[in-house]
Amino acid sequence: MLNAINLDDGLQLSQLVYGVWRLGDDDDTSITQVRAKIDLCLEQGITSFDHADIYGDYQCEALFGKALAQSPELRGQMQLISKCNIALTSARFPNRRVKHYDTSAQYITDSVEHSLVNLHTDHLDILMMHRPDPLMDAAQTGAALDALVDSGKVKAIGVSNFSRADWQLLQKHMSHKLQVNQIEISLLASECFRDGTLADLQTDQIQVMAWSPLAGGALFSTHPVARRLEPLFKSLCERFQCSADQIAIAWLLAHPANIIPVVGTNNLERIKTLSKASEIKLDRETWFELYSAAQGCEVP
Ligand SMILES: NC(=O)c1ccc[n+]([C@@H]2O[C@H](COP(=O)([O-])OP(=O)(O)OC[C@H]3O[C@@H](n4cnc5c(N)ncnc54)[C@H](OP(=O)(O)O)[C@@H]3O)[C@@H](O)[C@H]2O)c1
Repeated sequence: MLNAINLDDGLQLSQLVYGVWRLGDDDDTSITQVRAKIDLCLEQGITSFDHADIYGDYQCEALFGKALAQSPELRGQMQLISKCNIALTSARFPNRRVKHYDTSAQYITDSVEHSLVNLHTDHLDILMMHRPDPLMDAAQTGAALDALVDSGKVKAIGVSNFSRADWQLLQKHMSHKLQVNQIEISLLASECFRDGTLADLQTDQIQVMAWSPLAGGALFSTHPVARRLEPLFKSLCERFQCSADQIAIAWLLAHPANIIPVVGTNNLERIKTLSKASEIKLDRETWFELYSAAQGCEVP
């Protein structure tokens, strides 16, 4: 069974989060199918759902929200995360000339209002700044984020893809603590173990979430890292009687920082199997076997 991860202020997230970035890519985007995914996640103990305003060209939140509008009782059983500050060029914004970031107070508060309407909810459990913005006015952004928490529209603030310098600058201008940083981590993207990011997050007591924990499926492709991992995955699958994607998730769950993988499968069966990955306990040597195979060399 999946554990809950406790953050400050009584906020809890599930040990695995379901990411909705690819929701609109499914062949079936009916409310029935979205509802089937939500129900299955909840049954498996995946209670946290990761959105962003931009997912599916600004469509995914509304797609998910239709299921919540139909069954409002679901809202109390889940935590909703959303993000903002990436401004995409899109037919929806014909006057936008270039993809850019916007962390102005107006942009953030407008974006949250849209997310609340789209998701048919009165609050987000976590709002994340999606990407560090080189033009961020930290005092203005921090005040806007604090105000959203104080208003009750957002329960907690997080960041995504932030370095320590980025989160410290924002935190310096906020009274509420930044609770989460969502960064890319997988066997194919493991820099955070070497560049200090994961250590910094633990030191600053910021919960880490891993986006694209299966490298968007590339771990099982013809990518050179995938080719190196394939024979090891095969033997571990036999040893643990499981699938390679479960091993890749178990590898993240084995880390003492309680990394929360944000999985993005559209496959109902895979939602079920991935949620069992927490039952696979990788020992230290197996963890390093996978790490070394992914790196293409043993550790120094
Ligand atoms: N903060 C950020 O900047 C950021 C960036 C990217 C993503 N995210 C978040 O992270 C979430 C997850 O990202 P993701 O979708 O890239 O995660 P992922 O879980 O690494 O990748 C999911 C993709 O991998 C495929 N896949 C999974 N297992 C497979 C297997 N055994 N063989 C072949 N293909 C397999 C899935 O296909 P099936 O559907 O067929 O299973 C799906 O297309 C997103 O939904 C979003 O919430 C955040």
